[in-house]
Amino acid sequence: MKNERKYCAIFDLDGVIVDTAKYHYLAWKKIAATFGHDLTEQENEQLKGVSRVDSLHLILGFAQTRLDAEAFAHCLTQKNEDYLQFITTVNSKDLLSGIAEALTFLKAQGIPIALGSASKNAQVILDQLGVTSYFEVIVDGNNVQKSKPDPEVFVKGSEALGISPQHCVVFEDSTAGIQAAKAAGMTAIALGDPSNFDQPDYCFPDFTYLSEDVLTKIFHLS
Ligand code: BG6
Ligand code: MG
Repeated sequence: MKNERKYCAIFDLDGVIVDTAKYHYLAWKKIAATFGHDLTEQENEQLKGVSRVDSLHLILGFAQTRLDAEAFAHCLTQKNEDYLQFITTVNSKDLLSGIAEALTFLKAQGIPIALGSASKNAQVILDQLGVTSYFEVIVDGNNVQKSKPDPEVFVKGSEALGISPQHCVVFEDSTAGIQAAKAAGMTAIALGDPSNFDQPDYCFPDFTYLSEDVLTKIFHLS
């Protein structure tokens, strides 16, 4: 039975569709080193899903340091320049395992798909990956005022698709993103280590676990 637009899927980008999360980490690690802080993986976990500006505020908190407005703006620019350098070679081979199959299956089943990402670089990455056409709606860092864990990015996706929150299924790899999906009243599916998340509805190590059978159950397709 096809979906007939009852349910929809909202995908986070970094760390769900493509492993750009590692490039955000490398770029922030370099910035943190300029003020003498060694950014740890544990600290980085808290940056996932968080906007560029809010990430720098968090890093300054970890480092217990302050920057004046000019130095703050310079760090943001430098971080993005470094990040853009890292992602220049991203292409369809970088799609995380299971993502192409899931996007193809959901589209064939008539499930509308939205992107809900904090990144201002989302469109260029989707284009490089060759998957833009799967997304009926793209909500990214250019369209929202509030960072995850605020639900704004997912609420906008649900409104743009015209599907009520209780019928939205969000795929996320970040603590903040799962909190945002739950705050929006949506089904929250975490990808990664269960210890990183507060009560997701489901948690899978990666998208290879989301077989057609599993997706059929989650989206009530049979
Ligand atoms: C999120 C990432 O998707 O986008 C965060 O998980 C990142 O790490 C945020 O800070 C903003 O991204 P960008 O590309 O606009 O700096
Ligand atoms: Mg993410």
